[in-house]
Amino acid sequence: MRKKIIAGNWKMNGTIPETKALLHELLEGPSDNENVKVVVCPPYTSLYLANKILQNSHISLGAQDVSAHLKGAYTAEVSLEMLLTTGVRYVILGHSERRQYHAETDQLVNTKAKLVIDGELIPIICVGETLKQREDGQTKQIVETQIENSLSGFSADFIKKSVIAYEPIWAIGTGKTATPQMAQEVHKLIREKVAETDKEAAENLPILYGGSVKPNNAHDLLIQPDIDGALVGGASLMAGDFIAIINAI
Ligand code: PGA
Repeated sequence: MRKKIIAGNWKMNGTIPETKALLHELLEGPSDNENVKVVVCPPYTSLYLANKILQNSHISLGAQDVSAHLKGAYTAEVSLEMLLTTGVRYVILGHSERRQYHAETDQLVNTKAKLVIDGELIPIICVGETLKQREDGQTKQIVETQIENSLSGFSADFIKKSVIAYEPIWAIGTGKTATPQMAQEVHKLIREKVAETDKEAAENLPILYGGSVKPNNAHDLLIQPDIDGALVGGASLMAGDFIAIINAI
């Protein structure tokens, strides 16, 4: 049985005081649902503090990206080693906003994912099509190619240490959600694609849905057989909404 994962992607939100306030609200709320693994991914500047606040709690910490380089003259980059000292367990990779605004490619995502797994952290590898690609009937091809390239060279063991997030770009921050059926269809094809490498690893692979997940649509998405959780943007910034999503299943 795959355990559900609800991960909050705070994006570029969360000053130090805001981080403190939101995490305390989350810890106080009735969000201790044992069927669900809860992850929050605040900005880099909040990770150290967040780790202190979340010590011995049910909430794990994630980062929103990592450098593909180990060390050196890469201004503004944050290395894996730095992340390891902040207590993160998860690293989001290849989010569509990184792909769109920072020209991240599947190849770069692949390099980072291998680095993250070697560092014993868990990558949350994001894939998803644009509205135009969906309308042109290219969803299957686009998502399969992203999976193939982002997981290139992955052994079964690597797949077992990964999480995938399907995030249709047209649903991110737009209030438009894929219907549970649309999302399920893509999740199933992602699992089938990964099964070409290893059936058992694919069966155990958590595949999260992301794109305008809210308290009112979370349950219907999360009961789909191949939807193993959610990557939540906007609604993860409000403790009440995030807790409601955690408790939606
Ligand atoms: P959203 O963002 O929930 O605000 O649509 C999801 C994401 O980008 O991970």
